Amino acid sequence: MKFLDIIDFLTDIIHPYYYQVFKSYMKLTSTHLQDNTLFSPKETLINSLDSNLENQMNNSTEQQTALAGIDVLDNKLTQHFHNKIKLQPALTRQLVSFQANKHRATYRWYKYKEAFSASLIEILLSKYKITSGKVLDPFAGSGTALFAASDAGIDADGIELLPVGQQIILTRKCLEREFTKDDFATIKRWGAERPWHQSKVRIPLTTLRITDGAYSKQTLKLIEQYMGAWQRKNDRVQSVLRFALLCVLESISFTRKDGQYLRWDYRSGRRQGVKPFNKGEILNFDKAICAKLNEICHDVEAGNDPRELFFSNVLKGDIRLFSGSCLDIMPALPQNSYDAVATSPPYCNRYDYTRTYALELALIGIGEEALSKLRQEMLSCTVENRAKDLLKINPEWTNVIAVADSQKLLQSILRYLEAEKAEGRLNNNGIPRMVRGYFYEMACVISECTRVLKPNAPLFMVNDNVRYAGVSISVDMILSNIAENLGFHVENILVLPDGKGNSSQQMGKHGRDPLRKCVYVWRKI
Ligand SMILES: C[S@@+](CC[C@H](N)C(=O)[O-])C[C@H]1O[C@@H](n2cnc3c(N)ncnc32)[C@H](O)[C@@H]1O
Repeated sequence: MKFLDIIDFLTDIIHPYYYQVFKSYMKLTSTHLQDNTLFSPKETLINSLDSNLENQMNNSTEQQTALAGIDVLDNKLTQHFHNKIKLQPALTRQLVSFQANKHRATYRWYKYKEAFSASLIEILLSKYKITSGKVLDPFAGSGTALFAASDAGIDADGIELLPVGQQIILTRKCLEREFTKDDFATIKRWGAERPWHQSKVRIPLTTLRITDGAYSKQTLKLIEQYMGAWQRKNDRVQSVLRFALLCVLESISFTRKDGQYLRWDYRSGRRQGVKPFNKGEILNFDKAICAKLNEICHDVEAGNDPRELFFSNVLKGDIRLFSGSCLDIMPALPQNSYDAVATSPPYCNRYDYTRTYALELALIGIGEEALSKLRQEMLSCTVENRAKDLLKINPEWTNVIAVADSQKLLQSILRYLEAEKAEGRLNNNGIPRMVRGYFYEMACVISECTRVLKPNAPLFMVNDNVRYAGVSISVDMILSNIAENLGFHVENILVLPDGKGNSSQQMGKHGRDPLRKCVYVWRKI
């Protein structure tokens, strides 16, 4: 009888609490024997065991049985992937997040906090020997994968739904490829002469309910004069001036991006919690915009042949942006046409891009109705997402839905979350729908990736595991298992060295199991 069969057997005959004690002990010893480097050291596991057991004592028997069942299935997948899951000390959090872009010319212009670094893409392209052809990023964000691939001489297609990401990509492309010496001189002049102060025209800034009062009166006046002053410039110059403003909006506002929403500084006059929030320095408009215009000019010049004043495009690959949802756009892409996919989808973590980027969306002119529509079109990762009719989007996805339906671990997690909802134990009733939507929609994206990749071409995906209502959801193994059923071979699940817990609320209630952050490497069969 194998270890997991013993566990299955025990689940049926003993009380869940004692089962948990036994299982945790077995997991501890067997993991320790299997691979010392892959999981946490023994002491950490013992501590986590203590706190988990304490938490499970507070759970009802049904909950414990359900959690135990989930654990069994999770262990089965762990066994299935045990020689694929590899700790990669070289994959630091810095490399996998935006941090490594912070001081890098051109990438640093807009701090897209959800981005991965250009270095990560360069390392992956070089390690997996992608030196020509075309790559795809279906969740292009600020276009890191596209620009890194293009700089390596590889063509790149990106799909992005959020207009903020679209603007970043299009403006950067324009600056690198279409900007003239005269355009460049205009931008420099704006940084030096601040012509908006003389502007008699003010273009009103769109305001959303969630951005109302985001700037001081003086800052709002200057923003509107700045927008008034660019009206007479050509489209290329206008787009760069708008982009520079986009880059500084948060720093001149009373708000701070905070994951699920915008946080308001006490100086805004908005109602505060018990502890008033102070975001620190709020930059003066002139100082912020001039610094940004100078930074853009500096980076463009530094990337140039000094005799030419604009970037040399000789070795760069083409970049194409498809604006919209990848669920709509991917089915129309030609099959067997890409040499790699490099991407990072939204995580299943309730992060709301439409709220977090509300200031920037308002500047682009997105109104309330368009904002709600955008929120619904995003890959389901917030509790407000309603279920999408995937077969209406593409009737060819029947088999994809069947693959997700047959994913045992996913289905047991969904049943557990539904039961928790029925008992009124979730802090938000939209959680089960969000988790379901996330995996089913991702299954469709994965299936399209298989279709559009050339045989044997790799897919790289950065993603985080998550935890809801005490259950750690192994997003990495569930998606990899779905991928295996949709035409991929799972080559590796590369684990970043330090896992992170979820919210402090979750940790207090459910213990401190670290959550894996990974880079998946799959290959089309
Ligand atoms: C983690 S971010 C990607 C960041 C990107 N790797 C970068 O370096 O900038 C995920 C992106 O997916 C986008 N997104 C969400 N739903 C989408 C959809 N249905 N179609 C296309 N893009 C979507 C979000 O707007 C967000 O920019």
